[in-house]
Amino acid sequence: MTKINIGSSSVTSTKLGLGTNKVGGHNLFQNLQDQDGYDVVKTALDAGVQLLDTAYMYGLGRSEEIIGDVIQDYNREKIVIATKAAQDSQQDMKPNNQPAFLKKAVDEALKRLKTDYIDIFYIHFPDAKTPKAEAIAALTDLKKAGKIRAVGVSNFSLEQIKEANQDGGVDIVEDNYSLVHRQAEKKLFPYLKENKITFVPYFPLAAGLLTGKYQLSDAAKFDKFTSAQFKQIIENIEKVKEIAVKHEATVAQTILAWYLADPAIGIVIPGARKPAQVRSNVQALSVKLTSAEYQQIDQLFKDF
Ligand SMILES: NC(=O)c1ccc[n+]([C@@H]2O[C@H](COP(=O)([O-])OP(=O)(O)OC[C@H]3O[C@@H](n4cnc5c(N)ncnc54)[C@H](OP(=O)(O)O)[C@@H]3O)[C@@H](O)[C@H]2O)c1
Repeated sequence: MTKINIGSSSVTSTKLGLGTNKVGGHNLFQNLQDQDGYDVVKTALDAGVQLLDTAYMYGLGRSEEIIGDVIQDYNREKIVIATKAAQDSQQDMKPNNQPAFLKKAVDEALKRLKTDYIDIFYIHFPDAKTPKAEAIAALTDLKKAGKIRAVGVSNFSLEQIKEANQDGGVDIVEDNYSLVHRQAEKKLFPYLKENKITFVPYFPLAAGLLTGKYQLSDAAKFDKFTSAQFKQIIENIEKVKEIAVKHEATVAQTILAWYLADPAIGIVIPGARKPAQVRSNVQALSVKLTSAEYQQIDQLFKDF
């Protein structure tokens, strides 16, 4: 698999990763089985996926614990663990970016992950009071101490990213981005490119909508779209299906291939509830879109 460098850190990763909010994320999703979580992570690693994107918030540590159990049977050096923290259980889960909190959060995550370093640590959400440079300085200290290898921020506005990166300490940014949520392209992408910061889009499949498994009658499940937008998305997916058929691929594989072909996107981290979804999503690596097909998909979703 093609590898990419993470910002100016020493971390490299395959371009396809695994999102793990449904691995142990019992506080966020119903009807999850821990065993599926174990199998999802193993399936991804066995398929050569390196990066596992987790967070304290996914099961309040359970996702990290499951990953920690699984990686004991694998070569740690080949795995890229990305985790996040900010939600403070002592303060009604409000974001906390204070240096002491972040240092404690990293130590606790290391214990749950049963490892002695985290490849990428993100501040999951900004807080209202900590100067961003102060929070990043704390993570830079952890990087120097070898506890983390790359520094990231997530859910920060562009202004907050600029403030956080004033001394060049940010390696990677994770934010909401997909074909149906493209705001990052205008201002964020150029800033990240100029500053050699890697971008990781979350919700690449728009929480399953871009897999093609939903119909017009499912509009109520996706209430952030107007009914006109939802209709447009369903119609667009039918057109993506025509491209997918030519590659003997699924809609999800074709959409993932579209992100994989975009140099502005660092690592694509589709989430999965079941191992079969992981096996299918990994096949996206074999789908090579022609530039006409790439442009066609781009144009279909240009209004999002
Ligand atoms: N930094 C942040 O604040 C933040 C926020 C959200 C997510 N994330 C990270 O980003 C990752 C990706 O986001 P996401 O997982 O929420 O959404 P996503 O990747 O857009 O969608 C993943 C969901 O789509 C369904 N799916 C996946 N592959 C499929 C396939 N081949 N066929 C049919 N359905 C399929 C599964 O849900 P069902 O089977 O239940 O339909 C899966 O859980 C997360 O796992 C997490 O690691 C980060």
